[in-house]
Amino acid sequence: MCGIVGYTGDEQAVPIIIEGLKRLEYRGYDSAGVAVVHDSALCVTKEVGKLGALAAALEKSPSVGATGIGHTRWATHGEPSRANAHPHHDCAKSFSLIHNGIIENYLEIKEELSRAGHEFVSETDTEVVVHLIEENYSGDLLQAMLATMKRLKGAYALAVVTAHEPDTIVAARCGSPLAIGFGDGFNMIASDASAMLGRTRRVAYIDELQAARIRPDECVICDIDGAEIEPEIKEVTLSLNDIEKGDHPHFMIKEIFEQPALIRDVLARRISPTSGEVDFSEARLDELGLEHVEKILIVACGTASHAGMVGKYYIENMARLPVDADVASEFRYRNPVVDEKTLVIAISQSGETADTLAAIKEARRRGAKALSLVNVEGSSIDRESDSRIYVYAGPEIAVASTKAYTAQLLSLLLFSLYLGRKRGTLDKRRCAELVDELMSIPEKIQWTLDNHDTLKACSKTFSDAPNFLYLGRNYNYPNALEGALKLKELSYIHAEGCGAGEMKHGPIALIDDKFPVVCLAPAGRVYEKMMSNIQEIKARHGVVVAIATEGDEEIARLCEHVIYVPATDEMISPLLTVVPLQLLAYYITTIKGLDVDQPRNLAKSVTVE
Ligand code: AGP
Repeated sequence: MCGIVGYTGDEQAVPIIIEGLKRLEYRGYDSAGVAVVHDSALCVTKEVGKLGALAAALEKSPSVGATGIGHTRWATHGEPSRANAHPHHDCAKSFSLIHNGIIENYLEIKEELSRAGHEFVSETDTEVVVHLIEENYSGDLLQAMLATMKRLKGAYALAVVTAHEPDTIVAARCGSPLAIGFGDGFNMIASDASAMLGRTRRVAYIDELQAARIRPDECVICDIDGAEIEPEIKEVTLSLNDIEKGDHPHFMIKEIFEQPALIRDVLARRISPTSGEVDFSEARLDELGLEHVEKILIVACGTASHAGMVGKYYIENMARLPVDADVASEFRYRNPVVDEKTLVIAISQSGETADTLAAIKEARRRGAKALSLVNVEGSSIDRESDSRIYVYAGPEIAVASTKAYTAQLLSLLLFSLYLGRKRGTLDKRRCAELVDELMSIPEKIQWTLDNHDTLKACSKTFSDAPNFLYLGRNYNYPNALEGALKLKELSYIHAEGCGAGEMKHGPIALIDDKFPVVCLAPAGRVYEKMMSNIQEIKARHGVVVAIATEGDEEIARLCEHVIYVPATDEMISPLLTVVPLQLLAYYITTIKGLDVDQPRNLAKSVTVE
């Protein structure tokens, strides 16, 4: 999922574009490029690899000009190369265009344009768009874009500049996110507001099938038929500090250490100081008609889908409603049983994940109400929902999701308490008991963060292990999947998460004395079952790293490595047991000298299918 930035104003565009691309690099880092208009000429610079390579090339041969666009790429069509890097140009090199998304009908258009004499120099889907602009251009770039949009199928956020209109940027959106930043004597466009934060806080989001033309003192937004639309300008509250590493070596460890504070902050927002009840008033949940809901469907991807699985346990337990938790990419194509008595809950950190966005649309098309749990206000999934619960994790920059996961777990637990109280399936005393225990979680996470020497030793011991198995039961089964995902996506070690009860049905064949097995065994109803599974692993000379409740000496007698977390209610334990899993993946990755914040082949928000 690529990052897009554009600037037109009275300052040199390149430094502003590079600054913005730096904040979007988590979206993709296969190649980067800029195009700047100066004296009615286009100057394009592109480099393979991280943004640093582009910045170095621009250092060597600077591009001057006060209007320009820039791109950081996550390759979909065509390997990372200079030819496939954006911006792309037309035959006459009069137009330069950047794109985030996938043009699904690009081959058909390419054949048609090739027959008409156009020559293509890249393997990308994007290049056909700039040749279509060339075809449709008759003196008005915005009109050329509108005509081009009518030919395109798929997802796109596009921006184009031309030597014919030196101070103009035209942008368009269908599916992929795009925002406009309003300044004094300048205007900008970007994939998200954080890229423009150093310049302006006044932002408006371009909606589905809309286009925009920006100039230093003008901004026009219109729909695909050219009808003008008044922008809804919002003030962004994010601070620059929020999106910088500070004294931490990596965003990931910074975000892991932010978890106690964010839990404290969310509890302060969500627990009414007078009644002690859970309060979601700002989410206007009443608009969902919860009293009529007979079934809940949770849809999400990756880490968010693991939170959804824990959410299923929480809601079924507290609200006694049937819940299905599904990965969004499967949900949207499996012809699900959904109707007006179904509530779909979509979970997404970025709020831009294409499969989750499409799953909501599909569920709403079938009559369901949509509630989203998002971390990014104003994101596409937020705007596509009937109601939203913000999880308030703050900006999450590291590609590997950590604090957003914990914030999602907390928000799902609080929502299940709210729903249980509303439906009368959860009594006041049990609710108060859980809320009280939640109030102790910030310190308990802090204790885990302050006491992880054993974990660091484990990371050293196992950093060369070729494989890992993660086991958990009940509320901690999804955490086993999450622990495996964290290790895979960061250290590139193959890791499998599995329900401990399932191990005997196959995965146990993997066990030998070189195969580390991480077992989540906090105190609770399934503790004895976990202990039996650990015995089965030990019987095959397996090596166990146990995540256990502080003071559990029995497990220490059984396992080589025990990482303790403070005691808590079984339901709340995933909020604690996930922290050592995040740290284990982090330390193994740093020991292997790999890029913690920008792992290979990944991107922070997946805006294509
Ligand atoms: C998690 O570390 C990954 N970055 C990835 O699995 C992520 O959770 C998934 O792409 C969903 O993203 P979202 O929460 O922004 O929708």
